[in-house]
Amino acid sequence: MGLIRNLNELREHFPALKQVINGRKIVYFDNGATTQKPLCVTSLVNMMNEGINGNIHRAVHELSARSTELYEGARERVRKFINAQYPEEIIFTSGTTAGLNLLASSFGGKFLNEGDSVLLTEAEHHSNIVPWQMVCERRGAKLKVMPVDEDGIWRFDLIERYLTPDVKIVSVAHISNVLGLVNPVEEIVSAAHKKGIPVILDGAQGIVHEKVDVRKLGCDFYLFSGHKLYGPTGTGVLYGKKALLENMPPWLGGGDMVDTVTFEKTTYAALPLKFEAGTPNFIGAAGMGEAINFTESVSEEFLRNHEKALTGQMLEGLGKIDGLRIYGTGKGKIPLFSFSVEGIHPTDLAMLLDKMGIAVRSGMMCAEPLIRRFGCHGLLRASLAMYNTSEEIDYFLKSLQRAVKMLT
Ligand code: ALA
Repeated sequence: MGLIRNLNELREHFPALKQVINGRKIVYFDNGATTQKPLCVTSLVNMMNEGINGNIHRAVHELSARSTELYEGARERVRKFINAQYPEEIIFTSGTTAGLNLLASSFGGKFLNEGDSVLLTEAEHHSNIVPWQMVCERRGAKLKVMPVDEDGIWRFDLIERYLTPDVKIVSVAHISNVLGLVNPVEEIVSAAHKKGIPVILDGAQGIVHEKVDVRKLGCDFYLFSGHKLYGPTGTGVLYGKKALLENMPPWLGGGDMVDTVTFEKTTYAALPLKFEAGTPNFIGAAGMGEAINFTESVSEEFLRNHEKALTGQMLEGLGKIDGLRIYGTGKGKIPLFSFSVEGIHPTDLAMLLDKMGIAVRSGMMCAEPLIRRFGCHGLLRASLAMYNTSEEIDYFLKSLQRAVKMLT
């Protein structure tokens, strides 16, 4: 595939963008929730379902060998993409949520004790709150929460106050799914490491909009989902430093994660299989590898300029609407905009926009503590991807203004 350098060519890869919804060509602005899939991903997934389907690692027959090759090939693809040192540091999961639950249960379950804390920020997704709450309850530990300011920016000036000796794990989002701001993750890694505290980065949004190099970031764990990165649903990655993963107990037990099994005792497989019990979504993982190939076939310069232009146009347009407040403003803004309009319920707005063919998200955005911190009961979110256009933004802004008028 040659390098894709323009929007028309890029959009040709996504048949979903040609759909008509409620009588209108769809404007899909809910990419923070999930992205549409390019043809190369759906073709590979279909091809595997139609033929290259043999359970991986388990058999000597040709179909198993071909599936295994595609699955392990995807692992190597991911390793290179995030610049991990070893392929066994890449654990395939069903998504970011599964990865965080794995870490909370396995790492938290082993290393958290009575009186310990896990440090989060106020701007975390429920997936990076609830699994920790669950393990804290079991282990007699608690959560510590570093606040954000009125613009949604981390109160990093307070970090030393929060990195107290009881903190055993720091787990924070690279980019919040509500605020769309790139957080100072290298800085928090460095501050935590000075005290010997490991850092987990929830990269569900970060992997899409930033170039992620786990060795440069220095984080101990990095997680993301395939479906937000133009890949299949039910796929994801947990990256972890080898020495840490080796020192963690398995999470799920079952086939393929064992060395030997007797009724008296089981010994476990080496990494990465220790954390991949049961038949994994091997077709999905291969599809995610293909999605990574696709994103890398888009010119970086085009992407950077395009995202910057979309962000500028949206900020300018939203800024002109009376009573509209954007949450998450500042440096490092990705094209993801959560906002409220005074006196109007976000779900009413989202429903009217849907009637105009525009898909956005509304509600708590799986980040209730953050939304409540801003004194809201819900927000509206427009999240853009590389295939969105300036014309779509114009139409969105006009439609939003129309919807606001209808509701006031
Ligand atoms: N975490 C996804 C979102 O923010 C589902 O919409």
